[in-house]
Amino acid sequence: MTDLIPPYGGSLKDLRLDAESARAAKDAAVDYPSWDLTGRQLCDLELLANGGFSPLEGFMGQADYERVVTDMRLADGTLWPMPVTLDVSETFAGEIASGDRVALRDPEGVILAILTVSDIWRPDRGVEAERVFGTTDPGHPAVTWLREQSHPVYVGGRIEALDLPVHYDFTHLRLTPAELRERFRRNGWRRVVAFQTRNPMHRAHVELTFLAARQAEANLLIHPVVGMTKPGDVDHYSRVRCYEHVLQKYPEQTTALSLLPLAMRMGGPREAVWHAIIRRNYGCTHLIVGRDHAGPGKDSRGEEIYGPYDAQDLVTRHADELGIEMVPFRMMVYVQERAGYAPIDEVDEASETVMNISGTEFRRRMREGLEIPDWFGYPEVVQELRKTYPPRARQGFTLFFTGLSGSGKSTIANAVMVKLMERGGRPVTLLDGDVVRKHLSSELGFSKEHRDLNIRRIGFVAAEITRNGGVAICAPIAPYAATRGAVREMAEGANGGFIEIHVATPLEECERRDRKGLYAKARAGLIKGFTGIDDPYEAPKAPELRIDTTDCTVEEAAQKVLLKLESLGFIDLR
Ligand code: PPS
Repeated sequence: MTDLIPPYGGSLKDLRLDAESARAAKDAAVDYPSWDLTGRQLCDLELLANGGFSPLEGFMGQADYERVVTDMRLADGTLWPMPVTLDVSETFAGEIASGDRVALRDPEGVILAILTVSDIWRPDRGVEAERVFGTTDPGHPAVTWLREQSHPVYVGGRIEALDLPVHYDFTHLRLTPAELRERFRRNGWRRVVAFQTRNPMHRAHVELTFLAARQAEANLLIHPVVGMTKPGDVDHYSRVRCYEHVLQKYPEQTTALSLLPLAMRMGGPREAVWHAIIRRNYGCTHLIVGRDHAGPGKDSRGEEIYGPYDAQDLVTRHADELGIEMVPFRMMVYVQERAGYAPIDEVDEASETVMNISGTEFRRRMREGLEIPDWFGYPEVVQELRKTYPPRARQGFTLFFTGLSGSGKSTIANAVMVKLMERGGRPVTLLDGDVVRKHLSSELGFSKEHRDLNIRRIGFVAAEITRNGGVAICAPIAPYAATRGAVREMAEGANGGFIEIHVATPLEECERRDRKGLYAKARAGLIKGFTGIDDPYEAPKAPELRIDTTDCTVEEAAQKVLLKLESLGFIDLR
């Protein structure tokens, strides 16, 4: 009887201690320095601990790291494409030395592992970006992570894991390499082709995986990434519910679904090699590698970062060492005359009609509540996605008024709030400038830092309201464009809308009205740093709506807002 494919490097490096040793290690750790793992480190630790990253036995030391960056190999020559490093702050690095033991904790403070420090160094993160990702362009999410989020010091060392990170979701689908291997063994699966995905699956994906499995004469493992994917991707909860529906489409006993807690880097070719190694550790003999596998999208100049087949090329070049076979993904398209799917290279475009819906078109249809044809998606999957991405008429949104003091923001915001409440349908919350400063930001003043903090707090609350389908109406001065941009990102990242309304009443008019007497005080020097007088107001360049209240009644201004909301699809006035 043939056995399963051996793990990469020969054996599965499960770094978990047995129960008794784990208890002793935990007791000993009381006075170790502690590091609270970031989301990405937590994912990396899980795959180190469960053997998914075999043959690694801990976070990389400097010699491994440097050779991985430059040569795609560990110091001993083993092919390994991606740095797996523990980045820490200068402050923390100052507290530890080589040989120390460090307790690695989850966000709740639970000790998950002990790291025995072997190396502490300051990497050149620019070189890392250039060599590993082939670019230093901020359009690449991993490059931006290196530049803006990673800590400056790396710590390497062996790991002894006390436990795997705790997950409360989809626990029945979270199989470790050993568990998945055991399942394959039990079911007699010797040839298994893995399908890596970070997107919901539609009919084309199912057809493609059918074809790949048939071609490889293998069983199929749907192995979606649920750790970290590309910012803006569909959240994993919704995706997994979709995968569960899709699983029903495969003949029983041929296909399995298991979740991979990987933090993707969107590293294209190098990431494809990494995926192959990881899937081999999980017991797979084949990996489907598609067009633009693990691609990061376009750079900041709008150009593709990797060629569409770079990933396939790199995996092919290292096929022998990887020991897992690549099944190249051929794009599947719907052929009208055949009423079915076929690989694009097998279609005669002169006599046959190819149908496809791009990702952008799919998102547009979802946003506008338009039909998704059955030939494209399974109704159950589309229905699941519609719950997460309701059409605009049912999405939450943030209505963000910005403008000088006395410009009329609060008055219009109040009128719009009342009109929305009169219509009903969504809960409405008004986060007026003055009210927020009384309740949410009572300790803050008007320095740049404090104003930014104030606006970010408003943005945080507004995004939560938006996420839950409500309407958040905000009416602060919000004088700085960058901060307003950050709030837009928060709201849009919460599956909702962001509508910026510049109340563009000129300073002279605001000052003429001076309803609170503050301009007079500012002119007299009694208030310092007053917006428009001796503090800047950066007018929005492209707000969804601009209103000057000099010659316009409150009623007219509120109507303009409602009509804008209607034209954007958020409300239906008719
Ligand atoms: S900010 O910049 O967005 O954080 O300001 P905001 O929270 O909207 O608060 C503005 C209200 O505070 C009063 N006020 C000042 N405004 C601007 N500059 C200075 N230095 C200042 N000091 C007090 C003012 O009444 C603002 O209210 P509105 O409703 O805009 O007139």
